Amino acid sequence: MMKLTLPEKLDFLYIAVAFLAVFFLFRINRLPLDLWEIAFFAVLASLGSLVPVSFGWGMTLSLGQVIQKASFFLVGTCGGVAVTLFSDYFEVALHSRKIVSRGVLASVAQYVLSFVPGAIVLANLSSADHSFLSLQNLAAFSAFGFLVESVGDILVWSYLLSKEGPGDFRGIVRRVTFSSPERILFVDLFLAVLFILVCKSQQALALPLLFVPFIVLHYAMKTTPAILEEIRKALASFAEALEARDAYTQLHSEMVTRLSVACAKRLGLPEYEIQEIERAASMHDIGKIAVPDAILLKPGRFTNEERLQIKQHATMSREFLKGIRRLRVIAQIAGAHHEMWDGTGYPDGLKGEEIPAGARIISVADVFHAMTSNRPYRTPLPPEEMLGKLRGMAGSHFDPKVVEAFIRVLEENPELAIEPVSDRGLDALHGTAAPT
Ligand SMILES: [Fe+2]
Repeated sequence: MMKLTLPEKLDFLYIAVAFLAVFFLFRINRLPLDLWEIAFFAVLASLGSLVPVSFGWGMTLSLGQVIQKASFFLVGTCGGVAVTLFSDYFEVALHSRKIVSRGVLASVAQYVLSFVPGAIVLANLSSADHSFLSLQNLAAFSAFGFLVESVGDILVWSYLLSKEGPGDFRGIVRRVTFSSPERILFVDLFLAVLFILVCKSQQALALPLLFVPFIVLHYAMKTTPAILEEIRKALASFAEALEARDAYTQLHSEMVTRLSVACAKRLGLPEYEIQEIERAASMHDIGKIAVPDAILLKPGRFTNEERLQIKQHATMSREFLKGIRRLRVIAQIAGAHHEMWDGTGYPDGLKGEEIPAGARIISVADVFHAMTSNRPYRTPLPPEEMLGKLRGMAGSHFDPKVVEAFIRVLEENPELAIEPVSDRGLDALHGTAAPT
């Protein structure tokens, strides 16, 4: 007999519990269901899910999720469950291009289950006699919104725990719980209140008009990544200019980016922060453009004067990137990659959590790669030995939590420490001397 993995067993459990929950909800429902109304909101929510709007910084919202929440007040608990079930199934099946699969059913079941406790609370606390704007109804609706998010988070925890094991329980909780700005601010709940008010105002024919701002924003926001991509390309040409002078920096930046992203993922940082760290790591040494050739390419040791000039590169990276408004956060991260946990770093002598989290990660990856790569003036340390040294520097040079995550990432994926073979050849890349 086929043996099921724990996540697969959990998928079947979600499907079974959701099926039973929906079955019993419909059995105990005493109110007559207006099927036309339910079908209308189900179709509207499905169409709304087609125009998600990404506001940047990990915030995504669709009219579909707004209508789903509103429907629990407008057509009752069972009606809301039916609207959510139909529109979520439509969205998941469309995205995964599968009509029926364990993954699709489990995902829909998990989503519907996250609504059930909140919907029961809403049905018992709210009152259809008053206008929607009564204090009682608003409190019930807020409790509903909070419960939906919380139960949803608990279900995702359980799924990730079954996949990743209990070792990093705190990391999982941090990664999942109210992880994006729209969830912290309950933006969809506010919009759902507006939606209900429009429906109750006898102006229901105006509902399709709500699509207009979402469609406009959907297409407007689609161009934002294109602009960011243009900026990234422009900066890549600067990086290439730097590479033409100092091939090591290019390889080093690639390696530091790869290691930093893996470590940030391990720490459970949200996706938008991982993207910031990726950009900052790839450009952390871009300020070296301002360091004269005679110093940057000097073989052997540096004088104190030269060392001071080299140290300027961190500030230069920050100033250079700060010039582009959308890169301000990245500029702060890149500019702080030589700060140290105990405050003895540069350029500002920041200490502990004053140092941006991304910079604390990049600094570990930066030192790790610098010490394990082949340089003309130093033989490389084996990665295992360097990990031991990093452990010794946790709490003084580096954030202990970052060091712990970094070590775990490399113990589990030792191939991450292996440099990619470039078509220029590693020997050529290692033929120049530059500080990290
Ligand atoms: Fe640096």
